[in-house]
Amino acid sequence: MNNSLKAIILAAGKGTRMKSSLPKVLHKISGKALVERVIDSVLEINNLSEIFVITGHQSESVTEFLNNKYKMRSGSGSPKRRREGGGDDGQELIFDEAIKTVLQEPQLGTGHAVFQAYDYLKNFKGTVIVLCGDTPLLTTQTLQNFIEYHQKSNAALTVMSALFDDPTNYGRIVRDENENIKKIVEQKDANSEEKRIKEINAGVYCIEWEKISPAFFELTTNNEQGEYYLTDIVDWSVKKGLKTCGFILENNREIFGINSRQHLAEAARFLNTMTIEKLMDNGVTFISPENTFVSPETKIGQDSIIYPGCVIEGANIFGENCVIGPNTFIEGDVKTGNNVKIVQSKVSNAYIGKNSTIGPFAHLRDRVEINSDVRIGNFVEIKKSTVDSSTNISHLSYVGDSSVGSNVNIGAGTITANYDPLSKKKSRTIIEDNVKIGSNSVLVAPVIVKNSANIAAGSVITKEVPEFSLAIAREKQKNIDNWVEKRINQIQSESKIEANST
Ligand code: UD1
Ligand code: CA
Repeated sequence: MNNSLKAIILAAGKGTRMKSSLPKVLHKISGKALVERVIDSVLEINNLSEIFVITGHQSESVTEFLNNKYKMRSGSGSPKRRREGGGDDGQELIFDEAIKTVLQEPQLGTGHAVFQAYDYLKNFKGTVIVLCGDTPLLTTQTLQNFIEYHQKSNAALTVMSALFDDPTNYGRIVRDENENIKKIVEQKDANSEEKRIKEINAGVYCIEWEKISPAFFELTTNNEQGEYYLTDIVDWSVKKGLKTCGFILENNREIFGINSRQHLAEAARFLNTMTIEKLMDNGVTFISPENTFVSPETKIGQDSIIYPGCVIEGANIFGENCVIGPNTFIEGDVKTGNNVKIVQSKVSNAYIGKNSTIGPFAHLRDRVEINSDVRIGNFVEIKKSTVDSSTNISHLSYVGDSSVGSNVNIGAGTITANYDPLSKKKSRTIIEDNVKIGSNSVLVAPVIVKNSANIAAGSVITKEVPEFSLAIAREKQKNIDNWVEKRINQIQSESKIEANST
């Protein structure tokens, strides 16, 4: 038995009904482009060695997007993929030739689109799974089940189908009197009897390439739309006496295809509902699921509570007993320990250790590492910095390009001045353990505040502060006795003189 597996994803169509200058497959749901969702589901399939993405309409933008996303490189060597954990950029997929884009120009239909990959597959003996770039809700599990079903039944061709109350616009699966698949007929070509069929073509196929690929030389444009239909390979396979099967999808939401902005919103809603339902099944509380958006890539630990108004995009891992929201925007690559609270804040690319609290109204971004029992409070921005355990940065501060030790207290309004706008250079601030910084201080980087040092409120620190010392960098206070009384007397005598002179 040959388990070798390749995929073709069709993404060359125009997507006219989106009314957009952006190619349809690059529109996003839950923070990820449609084609990216399809590719990512496909990448997790066992034994998959290669993916061909067929591009056509605005192929340059689609190819550029894929190059950026998957760091595709050209060069020699066999197709491979690997997942890199950790490192500066976090989790990242690196592909050497695993994903190829293939140009379809002009776009003459779905059959013509698959045929563009023919040259790459000439000597291939195995299964090819074909999918559309505009059906982003298909899960890896469903695809895996579909492939297993196909391979176990020893079929030459298996079509994924679903039962729809309203099958309008989809291709219909026509079966014979023994319930065997006979052909697929498109909406525009269907007679009135065929139009009543509720079993629709999901547009996903498993093809035994060696047996079925000759069909692509025999496709015609003899149909209502004048296109080379991929669906015609079904009729071809049946007529050749090859085993042709159907796989009826249980959750028919999964094959929901995007053709308009309304579809886009609806798919996002489906995806969100499925994600939140699954998280609730795993022990997460959502106060108002319909007002909360969570990407399917996000994991949330048991007994965590998500308040309304949260948008949680990207890949995130929250611990147990966390409280997020209300009104919090998580942009991705956020990881937390247990018992973390994030209130009314924006967080991206950050690690937050156990028992720490963030917000209200805090902003963490660009690789922030917060250890345990830390408090980041009202109107505090932290950028590209580390903050060690039991440190407080509670009010109105900016901490950028800094490393802050443990048990530090940063007073309200403290700013690290990390940027020189003339040289455009950024410098680091180092604040060691047990340091106490008085309110409204400015630390002009590069600068080091050593262990247990104190800084007086209102100081502008430009030089290293030695350990256990107090730095005061402001003018000394002087009090002028009876100044107010004297001033009032002066004003009064001045106004008398003025009155006399008029
Ligand atoms: C297609 C199927 C239909 C099925 C439906 C499921 C055909 C003839 N019909 O119809 O039976 O019910 O999908 O969603 O296959 N594409 C190309 N090149 C082309 C034309 C299309 O790459 O020349 C791509 C599109 O970008 C899209 C996919 O193929 O991702 C499907 O094309 P689309 O025009 O949306 O087909 P449907 O009319 O939806
Ligand atoms: Ca479609």
